[in-house]
Amino acid sequence: RRILRTELPGAQVIVVSNREPYIHNLKDGEVDLIVPASGLVSALEPVTRACAGTWIAHGGGSADKITVDEHDHVQVPPGKPAYTLRRVWLSEEEQQGHYSGFSNDGLWPLCHIAFTRPLFRASDWETYEAVNQKFADVVVEEARNERPIVLIQDYHFALLPRMIRRRLPEAIIITFWHIPWPNSEVFSICPWREQILDGLLGSSIVGFHIQFHCNNFMESVDRFLESRIEREHSSISYGGQTTLVHSYPISIEWPPAALEAQPPVEECRRKVFERYGLSDDMKLFVGVERMDYTKGIVDRFQAIEELFTNHPEWIGRLVFLQIAAPSRGTLPAYQHLHQECVGFVDAFNQRYGTDGYKPIIMLAEHHTQEEIYNVYRAADACVVSSLHDGMNLVAKEFVASRDDEHGVLILSTFAGAARELLEAVIVNPYDATAMGEAMMRALTMPAEEQRQRMLRMREIVRENNIYRWAGSMLQDAARLRKRNSIQKVT
Ligand code: F6P
Repeated sequence: RRILRTELPGAQVIVVSNREPYIHNLKDGEVDLIVPASGLVSALEPVTRACAGTWIAHGGGSADKITVDEHDHVQVPPGKPAYTLRRVWLSEEEQQGHYSGFSNDGLWPLCHIAFTRPLFRASDWETYEAVNQKFADVVVEEARNERPIVLIQDYHFALLPRMIRRRLPEAIIITFWHIPWPNSEVFSICPWREQILDGLLGSSIVGFHIQFHCNNFMESVDRFLESRIEREHSSISYGGQTTLVHSYPISIEWPPAALEAQPPVEECRRKVFERYGLSDDMKLFVGVERMDYTKGIVDRFQAIEELFTNHPEWIGRLVFLQIAAPSRGTLPAYQHLHQECVGFVDAFNQRYGTDGYKPIIMLAEHHTQEEIYNVYRAADACVVSSLHDGMNLVAKEFVASRDDEHGVLILSTFAGAARELLEAVIVNPYDATAMGEAMMRALTMPAEEQRQRMLRMREIVRENNIYRWAGSMLQDAARLRKRNSIQKVT
């Protein structure tokens, strides 16, 4: 807010994402509100609130249309309005081609390299272009002047920066890519690689979570477009325009709003233990994510199996609670993962469980942030075993939830968060035996060591919070704007 006031006075902030921060659904004839399970939403929501911006997103809820005004606007958060949500309506066909098709069958596996083959179809690409165009029209419609600050979120909108740039040449366009960027050889398999790079370079700044992904992006541009790359300035000159490529590690609000209403840790633990029938002498590990094949869910279950094989004294004394929010359920890869997880858990519980003991409890349903924080606070350890992840905010949320300074974070070395949270127990999720041993380490870690590690991680998340993430992007935007005005004068 301060940067906007002092460095970018009067600037209008427009956020664009596919996923909306509030979804209105019809449930039993009533309008029901959901905050989706999305790292993007939990990160951007407090920022948009703070700058009273406009958030443009696809209105995907079954009651979304009845909650907007004649401009497709709704003021949010409900009950405490702080900014405008502008909903964009997409047909089934548009969603299929843009979201399920090109974004999630193509770009998602392409960028994550989790060994799921990306699927590229020309018809999806055409719809992807058309939907990007539709959002460009809405951005221009919502812009109050020629120079808004447009914060574009994610791989659903690679073409949008260029489309906006053509119509609002003076806009500051910051595109943040929330997922990894692969090396140029992997990226080269995308049939529309040049168009994607050209689209993104309509941005003033392209942001990634870590420098490694910035480097991969610059290498891809270098290989496929006629451009000049200045590595020491992390900038790309292309088609008469300069784009900065910077890393901005995303984070969460500190302290998280969901923590406000939480009872003390002991009470959370008592409630959660009671709910799932755990006895006091048991240990509880948790995993929280969308049901996604990049998250290494089956891999962590296999690690528990290794733990039970090599340290059978833990059978009957450890419960793993897996929250897996339903996600992208129309795509076969996701349906397959769901079945695989259910099959694994059933067989595992039959093998290691008893009448009163289920070693893995999987809840494949949506949970509120409050419920999730409750579970984080009840746990002895949180396992984040992504096969590849841009950042992973669950790791940061777990740390933020532990104001008692206890609990162990087991974190994949392939999640961006592992570059910051060095005091986590870092694991390779492809190595089930080693991950089983890491779990053993968490089970036996002395309280004082847990505290030291947690204290350090909390310092990091507190300092590098979401406002710092947004603040450094806006600060760079302000610098660019100044530089542009000086160039114009001279
Ligand atoms: O991680 C990439 C991402 O787009 C996040 O930014 C978001 O949290 C998540 O995927 C949610 O995906 P979807 O909107 O498809 O449910």
